[in-house]
Amino acid sequence: MDREGQRMKTTDQLDPTIFVIFGGAGDLTWRKLVPALFDLSQDRSLPEKFAIIAVDRIKLGDAALRHRLHDGVNQFSRFGKAKAAVWNQFAPHVHYQPGDFKKPSTYAALGGLCTKLEKQWGAKAHRIFYMATPPSMFGEIPKYLGRAGLARDREFARIVIEKPIGYDLESARALNAVLAASFEESQIFRIDHYLGKETVQNILAFRFANPLFEPIWNRRYIDYVTITVAETVGVEHRGGYYDHAGALRDMVQNHLMQLLCLVAMEPMVSFEADEIRNKKVDVLHAARPIHRDAVPKCAVRGQYGAGNTSGKKAPGYREEPGVAPDSATETFAALKLFIDNWRWQDVPFYLRTGKRLPQQASEVSIQFRAVPHQSFPPEASLGWQPSRLVLSIQPVEGIVLGFQAKYPGAKMQLRPVDMRFNYRDSFAAPSPDAYETLLWDVMKNDATLFMRADQVEAAWQWLMPVLGAWQITAPSDFPNYAAGTWGPEEAQGLLAEGHSWPRPTELTGARAKKGKSS
Ligand code: BG6
Repeated sequence: MDREGQRMKTTDQLDPTIFVIFGGAGDLTWRKLVPALFDLSQDRSLPEKFAIIAVDRIKLGDAALRHRLHDGVNQFSRFGKAKAAVWNQFAPHVHYQPGDFKKPSTYAALGGLCTKLEKQWGAKAHRIFYMATPPSMFGEIPKYLGRAGLARDREFARIVIEKPIGYDLESARALNAVLAASFEESQIFRIDHYLGKETVQNILAFRFANPLFEPIWNRRYIDYVTITVAETVGVEHRGGYYDHAGALRDMVQNHLMQLLCLVAMEPMVSFEADEIRNKKVDVLHAARPIHRDAVPKCAVRGQYGAGNTSGKKAPGYREEPGVAPDSATETFAALKLFIDNWRWQDVPFYLRTGKRLPQQASEVSIQFRAVPHQSFPPEASLGWQPSRLVLSIQPVEGIVLGFQAKYPGAKMQLRPVDMRFNYRDSFAAPSPDAYETLLWDVMKNDATLFMRADQVEAAWQWLMPVLGAWQITAPSDFPNYAAGTWGPEEAQGLLAEGHSWPRPTELTGARAKKGKSS
């Protein structure tokens, strides 16, 4: 049955589930997890026998927690404010369990509460342990769960972990080892929320559910690929975390590498989770290693200074709360990489991401090669451009194919035009939030959209020379781009002659003027 078909299932077809959230009084629970679970309940996609147990250190009762979560739902649910009657149906499913994450008594009490609920229901429940805590707890909670016997049931116990999965290759391996000591790999769900986005999942559908593009999806027809994840926001209230991470760890190691895998992977034989994940990890294994000495030629970093974004003055990164005044952390990263296999040999993949850029846009751009022979008269092909396919992930969700067409008139003149697909226009159904998709998949025990240990480690492995080189050589020119610009000039230097960073495509309006974006 397809994913949509599964989503239509009524609640009584889903197994009883207890959703335990460590960090249940925290921001992620309030902003993302509970609004997503609430929205699933509105879509009748939660089991009838369902409970959320929020575990946290602070003293709080069920009523106070529910009040707080109601506020989060009102702000973040895609259904808007929750009417009292609707919320009152959902709220009794939420329970609070106070406790220190590093005390065995917390886990004993938690186990007791789970058993009590199961007795009330007269049914064994799937128990999902979600770590919505600071990363320092990621290595601790699994151990305590293991010792308390809560990880033992391979079929019914699952653990969910968010990025950052480690800080580098070594720490990622260590964390994976801690997880593996208590849980089987099949019980571990590592979230990269990009994989829950409709448009990211659609990359697979577009490539492998249509016979049109796959035959030309290779070095013979594709000149180069760019992957851009541009944000207008700065570090917001997360300076403390971000200043120890930077763009490479925060965005490239996970979101951009995941996009790369989906664009470059070989066709899967079936829709089995491990089949797809095998194909993705093959891409990372084929990524040409960067020698540390070659890093300056393959990677560019930047940090924003004061400027303007979205018509407002923006402070420089070093002035943001929680950021060191002499911080060397990058808020922009651009990379060039090659995938050494038959399909992609010598096709450059350019990746870039940054904060405080002029426009929010996550896009994959496939630039096709020029026609092998130009048979039109020179005056016909003024302004001629090779075809380009843009998979736009956000904010606009859709696909644009740019190609040449004859301009109306007696003369033969060619002009670039666009063919557009836009989710909003084509489908009446709204896209669920990425967390809805991912939480629902955890409940269904479907790991397709989650990162496997070897994939996380392969992504770190590829990035380590860049991380290492950037760590030992302090940047001398930070801040090197103003807020509201497209990053440091040096990012142009990564591009081969004739290549350019594309301007984010305006799917809804007229085609953006072509050319370099910075
Ligand atoms: C998170 C990063 O993983 O993704 C943030 O930590 C970033 O720094 C965010 O802003 C972007 O996600 P989205 O869904 O808003 O594109």
